Amino acid sequence: NEQQSIRVYEHADELYRMAATFVAEQIRSAIDNRGQALIALSGGSLTSRLYPLLANAPLREQIDWSRVSIVFADERYVPFDDSENNYRATRQTFLDHVPVHADQVFPVPTYYRDPQQAATIYQQQLTALLTAHGGQIDVALLGMGPDGHTASLFPRHPVLTAIPAGALTVVVADAPKPPPLRLSLTPAALNTARAVVFVVSGADKAAAVAAALADTGDAMAQPTRLINPVAGTVYWMLDRAAAERVTQ
Ligand code: 6PG
Repeated sequence: NEQQSIRVYEHADELYRMAATFVAEQIRSAIDNRGQALIALSGGSLTSRLYPLLANAPLREQIDWSRVSIVFADERYVPFDDSENNYRATRQTFLDHVPVHADQVFPVPTYYRDPQQAATIYQQQLTALLTAHGGQIDVALLGMGPDGHTASLFPRHPVLTAIPAGALTVVVADAPKPPPLRLSLTPAALNTARAVVFVVSGADKAAAVAAALADTGDAMAQPTRLINPVAGTVYWMLDRAAAERVTQ
């Protein structure tokens, strides 16, 4: 049932503008059709370049934020007040600037001493949210690192082959990119999405983008290829530099 759409924009500025507009449209259509929206956020350059566009006119006024619930695709397992915390960064550029109530936002509970306990709790929260949202995340926003990782799913990391069937969250220890301890949604969780949106810019991503879009090789070396929504579409939104080595 997988569908894929690839969109290439000339410059990164245009990419982030079009991606923010697209995400706003997806949120609006979820609210129009089902009265509410469930979105999953990632960090990286989405935080600095895409979220400010959602948090400002004109897009901010186009969304009934009281109907939006927000989860995180992954989180660095550090306290909320740590500068590395994705939730903290997301508040600064996005959530503190839109009218979402605290009970609509579901940060990864990194205040548990045991990350496995946090994974269990976060899975329970996501399960309840999915039940309330007809089983689907409406929009999952993802980036991709130059090494090909997405969320905190790193190429050839042993955890990729150890995720129990049906698990929605996973603790990732020994991540190759610091900080080493993270919590991630699993491919199964992300594959509930109606729309998965990979937003990728820059020449340093060109090889990883080409490999991700080539339909060959070992999926464990290309975690983005584990993202195949059961009833949804994968959108790759790229700037020219990131798309440069794609052949098709
Ligand atoms: C992290 C980052 C990371 C980032 C990707 C893509 O948790 O270390 O959030 O996963 O999302 O590396 O980042 P860019 O979009 O900034 O290239």
